[in-house]
Amino acid sequence: MDLQIRGKKAIMAGGSAGMGRATAERLAEAGVDLYITARREERLVNAAKEMSEQYGVSVTPICADSSKEEGRQALFAACPDPDILAITIKPPAPNGNFLELTPEHWRDSIDTALIGPIEIMRHYIPGMKDKGWGRIVNIATFSAKNPMLWRLMSGPARSALINYTASVSREIAQYGVNINNILPGMFATEGADELMEVYAEAFGLESDRDIVMTHFMANNKIPAGFVANADDMAPMAALLCSPLSRFIVGQNIVIDGGQHHSLF
Ligand SMILES: NC(=O)c1ccc[n+]([C@@H]2O[C@H](COP(=O)([O-])OP(=O)(O)OC[C@H]3O[C@@H](n4cnc5c(N)ncnc54)[C@H](OP(=O)(O)O)[C@@H]3O)[C@@H](O)[C@H]2O)c1
Repeated sequence: MDLQIRGKKAIMAGGSAGMGRATAERLAEAGVDLYITARREERLVNAAKEMSEQYGVSVTPICADSSKEEGRQALFAACPDPDILAITIKPPAPNGNFLELTPEHWRDSIDTALIGPIEIMRHYIPGMKDKGWGRIVNIATFSAKNPMLWRLMSGPARSALINYTASVSREIAQYGVNINNILPGMFATEGADELMEVYAEAFGLESDRDIVMTHFMANNKIPAGFVANADDMAPMAALLCSPLSRFIVGQNIVIDGGQHHSLF
């Protein structure tokens, strides 16, 4: 399928690993020039070089923290006028006892998972409106719709994010600018591996991959029967970044193997 985005310019904020990297790969494969951000420089620079070599497009790495104003300004300076904006920002790690969450924890969660994406969108929406075309995709979490006690640092802030995009997307669709969100369930990514130890601690388990995964699968029924990899969501993200999604506005696409049992 031709995504009809060859030659366009995209930002993948959070594009050096996991689902951000997989999304960046699908865009690069479709002929899009990329600006990718991340906090850790070496992995970022390597990712940019690999994708540029593999797909023959320009991939510019920007080492910047999207949850901080300074990092966002670095992104805005490096790429003032993207056609496509995809964003993922990692929230704080899974929590233990909810009674121990302080206002400081909440502020950290809100800065990363809510204010970060909102500020990046707010900066780029006027330019997209002026051009009469733009696509914005947030990679958030299915715990925005499927509350989980151990993901209080991710779900509530993302519930607010999808509330924001539900309103804003309906205002800007008339200018050809669409916002949609992908809400992933459990994906085996570099980031998920890093969280294993925290998950083990939260549930009082030994920090052994097999033990953690057995516990996770027992407590989180995934009808599809497996934990996904990043390529299981990237084609959907790329589709939402294309003109083919022109009638998809303000939606929250849950990609979770059927784990969240709901009509909506
Ligand atoms: N994996 C899952 O099972 C799962 C489930 C539900 C939701 N999610 C959500 O999906 C998103 C992607 O997860 P993933 O597992 O693909 O993560 P990942 O493997 O850790 O990849 C995240 C990417 O974003 C970058 N990044 C994270 N925070 C950033 C920040 N503040 N500023 C700039 N770049 C940042 C990372 O690089 P640096 O670390 O170098 O900055 C990396 O390139 C996350 O928002 C996560 O909460 C994941």
